[in-house]
Amino acid sequence: MKLENSIVGVIGAGAMGSGIAQVAAQAGHQVILIDQNEEALERSQTALAKVCSRLVEKGRWTNEQSAAVQGRIQRTGDWSLLQPCELIIEAIVENLEVKVEVFQNVERIVHDEAIIASNTSSLSLTAIAGKLTRPGRFLGLHFFNPAPLMALVEVIPALQTDPMHIESALALMKQWGKEPVVARDTPGFIVNRVARPFYGEALRIAEEGLADFATIDGAMRSVGFRMGPFELMDLIGNDVNYAVTCSVFEAFYFDPRYRPSLIQKQHVDAGWLGRKSGRGYYEYSEGAQQKEASQAENQWIIDRILAMLINEAADALYLGIAQAHDLETAMTKGVNYPKGLLAWANEIGIDEVLARLDQLHRRYGEDRYRASVLLREMAASGTKFSN
Ligand code: NAI
Repeated sequence: MKLENSIVGVIGAGAMGSGIAQVAAQAGHQVILIDQNEEALERSQTALAKVCSRLVEKGRWTNEQSAAVQGRIQRTGDWSLLQPCELIIEAIVENLEVKVEVFQNVERIVHDEAIIASNTSSLSLTAIAGKLTRPGRFLGLHFFNPAPLMALVEVIPALQTDPMHIESALALMKQWGKEPVVARDTPGFIVNRVARPFYGEALRIAEEGLADFATIDGAMRSVGFRMGPFELMDLIGNDVNYAVTCSVFEAFYFDPRYRPSLIQKQHVDAGWLGRKSGRGYYEYSEGAQQKEASQAENQWIIDRILAMLINEAADALYLGIAQAHDLETAMTKGVNYPKGLLAWANEIGIDEVLARLDQLHRRYGEDRYRASVLLREMAASGTKFSN
């Protein structure tokens, strides 16, 4: 189905819904933005007005463009206005029962051909689709925060999704100026799965007392990550990051590779959530002294965390979670990694990455450090990733 020029419905006017509505309006769509909370709708309107006037001030937009984008979004609590929409994107609270109830309601309002999408970051699209009357027209469209600035969109078909709708969604996301990738409906999709060791292995190193937060952060920044793992967790919020880790861990039937960290749980319990609470792994109050990174040799930190990240990416490829090219796009456009993990593996050498993993496995004797069968096979045959 062709979705250009269609009316787009967005449900939930929080951070994500408002951003998605803006992206759709910028691409020329009329948008119906629904929220049950009047104040959320007002906040969303004020926030967009501010963004638009900043863009005009900077000379990036004209007054007409700004007015046109704002004028295309109709904010309302009246669900019946969704009736003419060809595409509905849901971005409400991350709760399966609440989302299912909303989708069942939407199905009663929209016409049979409309595509229905969820922006969920952690729920199973297949489980939601299983509760719908027409599951074939349902899929995941996972944007990244802030949606107007982050290019990546993970397009996630449910097991039941009609392939024709995947193509329509991909074409539309490209038209919106996004970089869509296709991800299989598995816990964490691409980014939230492959990025887990960036946090998990850093926490593990700190837990063992092998290096402190600042040293680990400094090491990862030195190879091009914009932020180290602890700075990034403080920015995301330890509560949010911990919840994602727990949900991925449970969804993978407690695979030790995804095990959450006690250090992080304690930070959450203490209310040290990061920047938003004034303290996380670091202090954010005014005049707080930041700890200096240790000057000791720390290449081993980079080697260890990178090996675990590459292992996760290789396994995602092996299991068909995404194609090589999409895996690379996801990590560079969704979380700004300095390069794709598969390209990085080629650079380091597949046998070297495998040797690092095997060494960790021998040292700890834990299943957490098992190498992906794909890396082992590639090292044996001397092949590289093509991406
Ligand atoms: P938010 O809390 O900022 O906004 C949610 C909005 O939905 C609120 O305005 C609320 O009033 C409204 N809402 C809740 N239940 C509703 C209902 N039954 N009917 C109508 N409106 C309802 O949440 P946020 O951060 O925008 O997240 C929304 C969704 O996007 C979640 O599924 C989340 O997992 C996902 N997501 C969030 C990202 C993030 O970084 N915040 C990134 C990618 C996805």
